[in-house]
Amino acid sequence: MIGNRVEAALNEQIVQEFYASQYYLSMSAHFERTGYPGFAHWMRMQADEEREHALRIFDFVNDRAGRVVLGRIDAPPSEFGSPLEVFQAALAHERKVTALIGELYRLAVEETDYPTQVMLQWFVNEQVQEEKVASDIVDRLRLAGDDKSALLLLETELGQRQGEAGG
Ligand code: FEO
Repeated sequence: MIGNRVEAALNEQIVQEFYASQYYLSMSAHFERTGYPGFAHWMRMQADEEREHALRIFDFVNDRAGRVVLGRIDAPPSEFGSPLEVFQAALAHERKVTALIGELYRLAVEETDYPTQVMLQWFVNEQVQEEKVASDIVDRLRLAGDDKSALLLLETELGQRQGEAGG
């Protein structure tokens, strides 16, 4: 069994993860449109990963004999700026998700819900990685500045991103 408050918060987090998926997919479309297929690929993989995050919580609520109630997912923006601005927005979004996971964890502690705490530990670790990866890309885009060849190199590199097992 799962408590009502934790169940509601997990359902809300499912929506947040699906929103993140939509957000990155919209960024992927933006990069397709503006001539950056490598960045578009990277964002598409990121969108897939966020969907996996949503399903991870979905499965957990079901496993605990809880009730999954899927909420409304807001439309993401469709206008974005330069590659640097897009990745800065992605980093800001990951920081927001980290804060949400932190609040969820705090609630699970308050409710002495140990299984949820254990499940969320995966997300706590994942957010460290998510922020690091986004932050590294922002740093490299800053360094590249107006250097087109450095930008193309990074573009090619990110275009090689593979799916991650357990995503
Ligand atoms: Fe599901 Fe990128 O955090």
